[in-house]
Amino acid sequence: MSLKEQLHTDKIPGHVAIIMDGNGRWAKKQGFLRARGHKKGVDALRKVATAAAKNGVKYLTVYAFSSENWSRPKAEVNALMSLLVSSLKKELGTLQKNEIRLSAIGDLASLPEKCQVELSEVRKTTAGNKRMTLTLALSYGSKAEIMNAVRAIAQKVHTKELSVEEINEVHLEQHLLTHDMPPPDLLIRTSGEHRISNYLLWQIAYAELYFTDTLWPDFDEEDFYKALLSYQNRERRYGKTSEQLNP
Ligand code: IPE
Ligand code: IPE
Ligand code: MG
Repeated sequence: MSLKEQLHTDKIPGHVAIIMDGNGRWAKKQGFLRARGHKKGVDALRKVATAAAKNGVKYLTVYAFSSENWSRPKAEVNALMSLLVSSLKKELGTLQKNEIRLSAIGDLASLPEKCQVELSEVRKTTAGNKRMTLTLALSYGSKAEIMNAVRAIAQKVHTKELSVEEINEVHLEQHLLTHDMPPPDLLIRTSGEHRISNYLLWQIAYAELYFTDTLWPDFDEEDFYKALLSYQNRERRYGKTSEQLNP
């Protein structure tokens, strides 16, 4: 039986988050410049997003550029920003064909003007697509996101719109950039790194974590199904005992 055939269609994670890592090492291994790895990474994302949409994933949120990635060499940052613009243009057809709505989270105002314009164009064009939401985390940092939420809540307390006693988890979640989606069920990180790198810290409180040594440009549909199968074989206990879940 193929990996896809082994999937339980009633246990597909609603929200999958991915830290797409290893583009640079993939390029270096073959003697290419790092930018070539990023370009190949777009091909991997196209394959995975299409497979996710076709198999019933409702939200796919991918880490494409962290707030910390601004400290990379200027040439690499520029190459990534150009790649973002050209990919948004090139992939619009794929998004439409697969009924994928594009969204973005992060400090989008810090992106070059061209990226912001292209992003809002594609977001507008795909706004009616209902099969899956693909969210690009761009210039994204989770600590800044939480800090901004805390600030906004503090402001509400300051203006007496909210009292300190009233503050709860829902308030905080409403002020996160992910307020319009459920928390990730599964978080995948490629390239053998076992860290979170400032990604969705609050949101992954109860996500299942999946790490693979495969470099992101090599990650394909089969690797994605492997991650889904691993997820489907786990018991999400949320603090309870196994006996409570299976009386
Ligand atoms: C992930 O690949 C893509 C971005 C961070 C933009 P990397 O560029 O981090 O690749 P490695 O980790 O150096 O191999
Ligand atoms: C995390 O990867 C960010 C993205 C995948 C976009 P990095 O390669 O930047 O993470 P660190 O620096 O190795 O933790
Ligand atoms: Mg990396």
